[in-house]
Amino acid sequence: MARDFSTVGVIGLGTMGAGIVEVFARNGFDVIAVDVDDAAVERGRTHLQHSTDRAVSRGKLTPEDQAALIGRATFTSDLGDLKDCQLVVEAVPEQLDLKKEIFAKVDGIVAPDAVLATNTSSLPVTEIAVATNNPKRVVGMHFFNPAPVLKFVEVVRTVVTEDEVFEDVTGLAQRLGKQPVVVGDKAGFIANALLFGYLNHAVSMFESRYASREDIDAAMRLGCGYPMGPLALMDLIGLDTAYEILDTMYKQGRDRLHAPSPIIKQMVSAGLKGRKSGRGFYTYAEPDSSQVA
Ligand code: 3HC
Repeated sequence: MARDFSTVGVIGLGTMGAGIVEVFARNGFDVIAVDVDDAAVERGRTHLQHSTDRAVSRGKLTPEDQAALIGRATFTSDLGDLKDCQLVVEAVPEQLDLKKEIFAKVDGIVAPDAVLATNTSSLPVTEIAVATNNPKRVVGMHFFNPAPVLKFVEVVRTVVTEDEVFEDVTGLAQRLGKQPVVVGDKAGFIANALLFGYLNHAVSMFESRYASREDIDAAMRLGCGYPMGPLALMDLIGLDTAYEILDTMYKQGRDRLHAPSPIIKQMVSAGLKGRKSGRGFYTYAEPDSSQVA
Protein backbone atom coordinates (compact mmCIF):
# COMPACT_ATOMS: atom_id res chain seq x y z
CA MET A 1 0.00 0.00 0.00
CA ALA A 2 1.25 3.48 -0.85
CA ARG A 3 2.58 5.51 2.05
CA ASP A 4 0.30 8.44 2.98
CA PHE A 5 3.09 10.62 4.39
CA SER A 6 0.69 12.37 6.80
CA THR A 7 3.57 13.58 8.97
CA VAL A 8 6.71 14.81 7.28
CA GLY A 9 9.93 16.29 8.58
CA VAL A 10 12.03 19.04 7.07
CA ILE A 11 15.63 19.53 8.20
CA GLY A 12 17.23 22.90 7.52
CA LEU A 13 15.07 26.04 7.57
CA GLY A 14 17.03 28.24 5.17
CA THR A 15 15.47 29.68 2.03
CA MET A 16 14.55 26.32 0.52
CA GLY A 17 13.75 24.40 3.70
CA ALA A 18 11.43 27.08 5.06
CA GLY A 19 9.66 27.20 1.69
CA ILE A 20 9.28 23.41 1.72
CA VAL A 21 7.75 23.55 5.21
CA GLU A 22 5.18 25.99 3.82
CA VAL A 23 4.42 23.75 0.84
CA PHE A 24 3.62 20.77 3.07
CA ALA A 25 1.66 22.79 5.66
CA ARG A 26 -0.37 24.49 2.92
CA ASN A 27 -1.32 21.07 1.58
CA GLY A 28 -2.59 19.74 4.89
CA PHE A 29 0.43 17.78 6.07
CA ASP A 30 1.73 17.91 9.63
CA VAL A 31 5.31 19.11 9.50
CA ILE A 32 8.13 18.75 11.98
CA ALA A 33 10.56 21.54 11.05
CA VAL A 34 14.07 21.13 12.41
CA ASP A 35 17.15 23.30 12.46
CA VAL A 36 20.34 23.31 14.38
CA ASP A 37 19.65 25.84 17.15
CA ASP A 38 16.98 28.09 18.58
CA ALA A 39 17.92 31.09 16.41
CA ALA A 40 17.68 29.08 13.19
CA VAL A 41 14.41 27.52 14.31
CA GLU A 42 13.04 30.98 15.07
CA ARG A 43 14.02 32.20 11.59
CA GLY A 44 12.09 29.28 10.10
CA ARG A 45 9.04 30.08 12.19
CA THR A 46 9.25 33.77 11.21
CA HIS A 47 9.50 32.82 7.54
CA LEU A 48 6.26 30.85 7.70
CA GLN A 49 4.53 33.66 9.57
CA HIS A 50 5.64 36.37 7.13
CA SER A 51 5.04 34.35 4.00
CA THR A 52 1.51 33.46 5.07
CA ASP A 53 0.89 37.05 6.31
CA ARG A 54 1.61 38.15 2.77
CA ALA A 55 -0.87 35.61 1.38
CA VAL A 56 -3.51 36.89 3.85
CA SER A 57 -2.84 40.52 2.90
CA ARG A 58 -3.25 39.60 -0.78
CA GLY A 59 -6.58 37.94 0.01
CA LYS A 60 -5.23 34.50 -0.99
CA LEU A 61 -5.60 32.96 2.47
CA THR A 62 -8.12 33.60 5.25
CA PRO A 63 -6.78 34.37 8.75
CA GLU A 64 -8.46 31.14 9.94
CA ASP A 65 -6.73 29.06 7.28
CA GLN A 66 -3.46 30.78 8.11
CA ALA A 67 -3.82 29.85 11.78
CA ALA A 68 -4.62 26.23 10.84
CA LEU A 69 -1.67 26.11 8.44
CA ILE A 70 0.76 27.45 11.02
CA GLY A 71 -0.72 25.08 13.60
CA ARG A 72 0.30 22.13 11.42
CA ALA A 73 4.00 23.04 11.71
CA THR A 74 6.03 22.18 14.81
CA PHE A 75 9.43 23.87 15.06
CA THR A 76 12.22 22.20 17.00
CA SER A 77 15.99 21.88 17.25
CA ASP A 78 15.79 18.20 18.27
CA LEU A 79 16.25 15.67 15.45
CA GLY A 80 14.67 13.07 17.76
CA ASP A 81 11.31 14.79 17.17
CA LEU A 82 11.36 13.33 13.65
CA LYS A 83 10.74 9.82 14.95
CA ASP A 84 7.12 9.55 13.74
CA CYS A 85 7.72 11.08 10.29
CA GLN A 86 7.01 8.90 7.26
CA LEU A 87 9.13 11.20 5.14
CA VAL A 88 12.02 13.48 6.01
CA VAL A 89 13.24 16.07 3.50
CA GLU A 90 16.71 17.40 4.17
CA ALA A 91 17.47 20.94 2.98
CA VAL A 92 20.68 21.93 4.77
CA PRO A 93 23.52 23.77 2.97
CA GLU A 94 25.16 22.05 0.00
CA GLN A 95 27.95 20.32 1.92
CA LEU A 96 28.28 16.60 1.32
CA ASP A 97 29.77 15.69 4.72
CA LEU A 98 27.07 17.59 6.56
CA LYS A 99 24.32 15.88 4.58
CA LYS A 100 25.87 12.44 5.10
CA GLU A 101 26.13 13.03 8.82
CA ILE A 102 22.47 14.07 9.01
CA PHE A 103 21.27 11.11 6.96
CA ALA A 104 23.23 8.68 9.14
CA LYS A 105 21.60 10.17 12.24
CA VAL A 106 18.06 10.34 10.88
CA ASP A 107 18.35 6.76 9.58
CA GLY A 108 18.54 5.65 13.21
CA ILE A 109 15.62 7.83 14.35
CA VAL A 110 12.75 7.19 11.91
CA ALA A 111 10.87 3.92 11.28
CA PRO A 112 12.47 1.42 8.86
CA ASP A 113 9.92 2.13 6.11
CA ALA A 114 10.15 5.93 6.34
CA VAL A 115 11.52 7.66 3.24
CA LEU A 116 14.55 9.94 3.40
CA ALA A 117 14.80 12.63 0.73
CA THR A 118 17.44 15.21 0.02
CA ASN A 119 16.71 18.55 -1.61
CA THR A 120 20.28 18.72 -2.87
CA SER A 121 20.62 20.54 -6.15
CA SER A 122 23.99 19.25 -7.21
CA LEU A 123 25.53 16.73 -4.78
CA PRO A 124 25.45 12.99 -5.52
CA VAL A 125 22.30 11.50 -3.97
CA THR A 126 23.89 8.04 -4.10
CA GLU A 127 26.73 9.12 -1.82
CA ILE A 128 24.25 10.60 0.62
CA ALA A 129 22.17 7.39 0.45
CA VAL A 130 25.07 5.11 1.30
CA ALA A 131 25.65 7.02 4.52
CA THR A 132 22.52 5.20 5.78
CA ASN A 133 22.01 1.52 6.53
CA ASN A 134 19.17 1.39 4.03
CA PRO A 135 20.04 3.32 0.84
CA LYS A 136 16.97 1.84 -0.91
CA ARG A 137 14.73 4.31 0.89
CA VAL A 138 16.68 7.40 -0.14
CA VAL A 139 15.67 9.68 -3.03
CA GLY A 140 16.30 13.21 -4.20
CA MET A 141 13.35 15.59 -4.01
CA HIS A 142 14.52 18.84 -5.53
CA PHE A 143 12.20 21.84 -5.15
CA PHE A 144 12.57 25.26 -6.80
CA ASN A 145 12.72 28.67 -5.17
CA PRO A 146 10.21 30.03 -4.20
CA ALA A 147 9.02 26.51 -3.34
CA PRO A 148 5.42 27.53 -2.54
CA VAL A 149 5.10 29.10 -6.00
CA LEU A 150 7.02 26.99 -8.49
CA LYS A 151 5.18 23.87 -9.56
CA PHE A 152 8.04 21.58 -10.36
CA VAL A 153 9.99 18.91 -8.47
CA GLU A 154 12.83 16.76 -9.72
CA VAL A 155 12.66 13.30 -8.16
CA VAL A 156 16.12 11.78 -8.25
CA ARG A 157 16.34 8.03 -8.43
CA THR A 158 19.63 6.35 -7.61
CA VAL A 159 20.61 2.89 -8.83
CA VAL A 160 19.40 1.45 -5.53
CA THR A 161 16.21 3.44 -4.87
CA GLU A 162 13.34 1.00 -4.36
CA ASP A 163 10.52 1.24 -6.94
CA GLU A 164 7.85 1.75 -4.30
CA VAL A 165 9.77 4.57 -2.63
CA PHE A 166 10.22 6.32 -5.90
CA GLU A 167 6.54 5.89 -6.88
CA ASP A 168 5.31 7.10 -3.50
CA VAL A 169 7.46 10.23 -3.65
CA THR A 170 6.38 10.98 -7.21
CA GLY A 171 2.73 10.61 -6.13
CA LEU A 172 3.40 12.87 -3.15
CA ALA A 173 4.84 15.60 -5.38
CA GLN A 174 1.60 15.50 -7.38
CA ARG A 175 -0.45 15.82 -4.19
CA LEU A 176 1.59 18.95 -3.46
CA GLY A 177 0.45 20.39 -6.79
CA LYS A 178 3.87 19.95 -8.38
CA GLN A 179 4.78 18.33 -11.65
CA PRO A 180 7.36 15.68 -10.82
CA VAL A 181 9.98 14.60 -13.31
CA VAL A 182 12.26 11.64 -13.00
CA VAL A 183 15.96 12.24 -13.23
CA GLY A 184 19.14 10.27 -12.75
CA ASP A 185 21.81 11.13 -10.21
CA LYS A 186 23.87 13.67 -12.14
CA ALA A 187 25.01 17.08 -10.84
CA GLY A 188 22.41 19.75 -11.49
CA PHE A 189 19.80 17.22 -12.68
CA ILE A 190 17.86 18.93 -15.50
CA ALA A 191 17.03 22.47 -14.47
CA ASN A 192 20.18 23.53 -12.65
CA ALA A 193 22.37 21.87 -15.29
CA LEU A 194 20.78 24.19 -17.83
CA LEU A 195 20.28 27.24 -15.63
CA PHE A 196 23.58 27.73 -13.86
CA GLY A 197 25.79 28.05 -16.94
CA TYR A 198 23.49 30.87 -18.03
CA LEU A 199 23.53 32.57 -14.61
CA ASN A 200 27.31 32.31 -14.39
CA HIS A 201 27.66 33.79 -17.86
CA ALA A 202 25.49 36.75 -16.84
CA VAL A 203 27.68 37.32 -13.78
CA SER A 204 30.81 37.28 -15.99
CA MET A 205 29.25 39.90 -18.27
CA PHE A 206 28.58 42.08 -15.25
CA GLU A 207 32.03 41.44 -13.77
CA SER A 208 33.79 42.44 -16.98
CA ARG A 209 31.67 45.64 -17.13
CA TYR A 210 30.39 44.57 -20.51
CA ALA A 211 26.90 45.71 -19.51
CA SER A 212 25.16 47.07 -16.44
CA ARG A 213 23.22 44.78 -14.11
CA GLU A 214 19.96 46.52 -15.07
CA ASP A 215 20.60 46.04 -18.78
CA ILE A 216 21.60 42.39 -18.39
CA ASP A 217 18.43 41.71 -16.45
CA ALA A 218 16.24 43.75 -18.80
CA ALA A 219 17.60 41.81 -21.78
CA MET A 220 16.34 38.54 -20.39
CA ARG A 221 13.13 39.89 -18.86
CA LEU A 222 11.97 42.12 -21.66
CA GLY A 223 13.87 40.62 -24.55
CA CYS A 224 13.31 36.97 -23.75
CA GLY A 225 10.24 36.98 -21.50
CA TYR A 226 11.91 35.44 -18.44
CA PRO A 227 10.08 36.25 -15.18
CA MET A 228 13.22 37.83 -13.75
CA GLY A 229 16.70 38.69 -14.97
CA PRO A 230 19.71 36.47 -14.12
CA LEU A 231 21.30 38.83 -11.56
CA ALA A 232 18.02 39.34 -9.74
CA LEU A 233 17.61 35.57 -9.81
CA MET A 234 21.10 35.08 -8.34
CA ASP A 235 19.99 37.37 -5.49
CA LEU A 236 16.84 35.29 -5.01
CA ILE A 237 18.70 31.97 -5.00
CA GLY A 238 21.40 33.35 -2.69
CA LEU A 239 24.97 33.88 -3.85
CA ASP A 240 26.34 31.42 -1.29
CA THR A 241 24.02 28.70 -2.55
CA ALA A 242 24.71 29.59 -6.18
CA TYR A 243 28.45 29.41 -5.52
CA GLU A 244 28.18 25.98 -3.91
CA ILE A 245 26.09 24.65 -6.81
CA LEU A 246 28.44 26.02 -9.48
CA ASP A 247 31.51 24.78 -7.64
CA THR A 248 30.09 21.26 -7.29
CA MET A 249 28.98 21.16 -10.92
CA TYR A 250 32.36 22.40 -12.09
CA LYS A 251 34.23 19.84 -10.01
CA GLN A 252 32.02 17.04 -11.34
CA GLY A 253 31.80 17.99 -15.01
CA ARG A 254 34.83 20.27 -15.58
CA ASP A 255 32.70 22.31 -17.97
CA ARG A 256 34.15 25.82 -17.77
CA LEU A 257 30.66 27.24 -18.11
CA HIS A 258 30.31 26.25 -14.47
CA ALA A 259 33.64 27.58 -13.17
CA PRO A 260 32.23 30.13 -10.69
CA SER A 261 32.90 33.73 -11.73
CA PRO A 262 35.38 35.07 -9.14
CA ILE A 263 33.12 37.91 -8.09
CA ILE A 264 30.56 35.45 -6.67
CA LYS A 265 33.01 34.17 -4.04
CA GLN A 266 34.16 37.71 -3.30
CA MET A 267 30.62 38.89 -2.75
CA VAL A 268 29.85 35.93 -0.49
CA SER A 269 33.00 36.62 1.55
CA ALA A 270 31.88 40.23 1.92
CA GLY A 271 28.46 39.12 3.16
CA LEU A 272 26.63 40.15 -0.02
CA LYS A 273 24.55 37.01 -0.33
CA GLY A 274 21.54 38.47 -2.10
CA ARG A 275 18.05 39.10 -0.80
CA LYS A 276 18.59 37.17 2.41
CA SER A 277 21.38 39.53 3.52
CA GLY A 278 19.78 42.68 2.13
CA ARG A 279 22.38 43.11 -0.61
CA GLY A 280 23.70 41.15 -3.55
CA PHE A 281 23.80 42.45 -7.11
CA TYR A 282 21.02 44.76 -5.95
CA THR A 283 20.35 46.41 -2.61
CA TYR A 284 17.12 45.63 -0.81
CA ALA A 285 15.41 47.96 1.63
CA GLU A 286 15.86 45.36 4.37
CA PRO A 287 16.76 41.68 4.43
CA ASP A 288 13.78 39.85 2.95
CA SER A 289 12.29 38.05 5.93
CA SER A 290 10.92 35.39 3.61
CA GLN A 291 14.43 34.72 2.33
CA VAL A 292 16.10 33.53 5.47
CA ALA A 293 19.80 32.80 5.49
N1 3HC B 1 7.57 32.74 -1.07
C1 3HC B 1 6.26 32.48 -1.23
N2 3HC B 1 5.51 33.05 -2.18
C2 3HC B 1 6.10 33.97 -2.97
C3 3HC B 1 7.45 34.31 -2.85
C4 3HC B 1 8.21 33.65 -1.85
N3 3HC B 1 9.51 33.88 -1.67
N4 3HC B 1 7.76 35.24 -3.79
C5 3HC B 1 6.63 35.47 -4.47
N5 3HC B 1 5.63 34.70 -3.97
C6 3HC B 1 4.26 34.63 -4.46
C7 3HC B 1 3.51 35.91 -4.25
O1 3HC B 1 2.92 35.95 -2.96
C8 3HC B 1 2.47 35.83 -5.35
O2 3HC B 1 1.45 34.94 -4.94
P1 3HC B 1 -0.08 35.14 -5.44
O3 3HC B 1 -0.05 35.12 -6.95
O4 3HC B 1 -0.80 33.97 -4.84
O5 3HC B 1 -0.51 36.47 -4.91
C9 3HC B 1 3.23 35.15 -6.50
O6 3HC B 1 4.32 34.45 -5.87
C10 3HC B 1 3.78 36.14 -7.50
O7 3HC B 1 4.60 37.06 -6.78
P2 3HC B 1 4.77 38.59 -7.14
O8 3HC B 1 3.48 39.10 -7.75
O9 3HC B 1 5.28 39.31 -5.94
O10 3HC B 1 5.96 38.64 -8.15
P3 3HC B 1 6.16 37.98 -9.55
O11 3HC B 1 4.91 37.75 -10.29
O12 3HC B 1 7.22 38.81 -10.16
O13 3HC B 1 6.76 36.53 -9.21
C11 3HC B 1 8.53 35.05 -8.75
C12 3HC B 1 7.87 36.38 -8.38
C13 3HC B 1 7.56 33.88 -8.46
C14 3HC B 1 9.77 34.93 -7.88
C15 3HC B 1 8.87 35.07 -10.29
O14 3HC B 1 9.60 36.22 -10.58
C16 3HC B 1 9.68 33.87 -10.73
O15 3HC B 1 9.14 32.78 -10.95
N6 3HC B 1 11.01 34.06 -10.88
C17 3HC B 1 11.90 33.00 -11.33
C18 3HC B 1 12.28 32.13 -10.16
C19 3HC B 1 13.17 30.99 -10.58
O16 3HC B 1 13.65 30.88 -11.69
N7 3HC B 1 13.40 30.08 -9.61
C20 3HC B 1 14.25 28.92 -9.81
C21 3HC B 1 15.58 29.20 -9.16
S1 3HC B 1 16.66 27.81 -9.30
C22 3HC B 1 16.27 26.87 -7.97
O17 3HC B 1 15.44 27.18 -7.15
C23 3HC B 1 17.02 25.61 -7.83
C24 3HC B 1 17.78 25.58 -6.55
O18 3HC B 1 18.50 24.37 -6.52
C25 3HC B 1 18.70 26.75 -6.35
